[in-house]
Amino acid sequence: MRRADTIAKLRRARARMTGSVGLVPTMGYLHAGHLALVARARAENVHVAASIFVNPAQFGPTEDYAHYPRDLPRDLRLLRGAGVDLLFTPAAADLYPPGFTTWVNVEGLDSQLEGKSRPGHFRGVATVVLKLFNLVQPTRAYFGQKDGQQVAVLKRMAQDLDCPVKLVLVPTVREADGLALSSRNVFLTPPQRAGAAVLYRALQEARRLYAAGERSGERLRQAMRAVVQEEPLGALDYASVADLATLQEQETVRGPVMASLAVRFGKTRLIDNILLGA
Ligand code: PAF
Repeated sequence: MRRADTIAKLRRARARMTGSVGLVPTMGYLHAGHLALVARARAENVHVAASIFVNPAQFGPTEDYAHYPRDLPRDLRLLRGAGVDLLFTPAAADLYPPGFTTWVNVEGLDSQLEGKSRPGHFRGVATVVLKLFNLVQPTRAYFGQKDGQQVAVLKRMAQDLDCPVKLVLVPTVREADGLALSSRNVFLTPPQRAGAAVLYRALQEARRLYAAGERSGERLRQAMRAVVQEEPLGALDYASVADLATLQEQETVRGPVMASLAVRFGKTRLIDNILLGA
């Protein structure tokens, strides 16, 4: 595995690659969910490139940028073992040099759900992902379905800005009790970790009701809220049943929707989603 820690080195390594390139953008502190993205990229491309960059632009001023978990030596071992050919690990000053002032706003999609609690978050995500697309010029780019709104935002951006890349969505990887793998799970205390399975239970309740014929968006949202309220350590931020592409809340579910929720356990905020009717 070749490692490029500057844009110049990345461009040189990329220029030597011929054939398809799969890109797996990450913020590091890798888990089995990231490795599933790499495995899919490995299966579908001649070359696999990954990036590790804790992107300051997608963290709000009171969020956990400084404390976001990092373990580069372990990440390097995992990516080498998973067959990554090129790893990009830029410094923030390389991607956001002095004078940087161009941002990607995916209007409308960036202000709902996560966007309400995390203003500016998707501007940071879309901007850094577009930069990675421009630098790596991948054939395909791989993202986890766990970050469902991120997927909707990036699909819209790629379509609107004619990015010559195919976005590939990979199913969420879960613990035995259903908790979606996330780098932030490390912050949960043991009682919070046990309680965190409530997100999946709430989503499963929505799935059960949908399968039984329930099509009222509000009743599906209410069912998820009721499950979360049974967990004393969790504080619900939102429960949503929204259109997959527009992220508009649905009164009546007619096409495929994303049922999603965000729940706080102390200072740790967890998100999860499932697709219904997709
Ligand atoms: O999903 C993530 O880890 C990040 O949002 C991403 C896509 C790597 C952009 O920083």
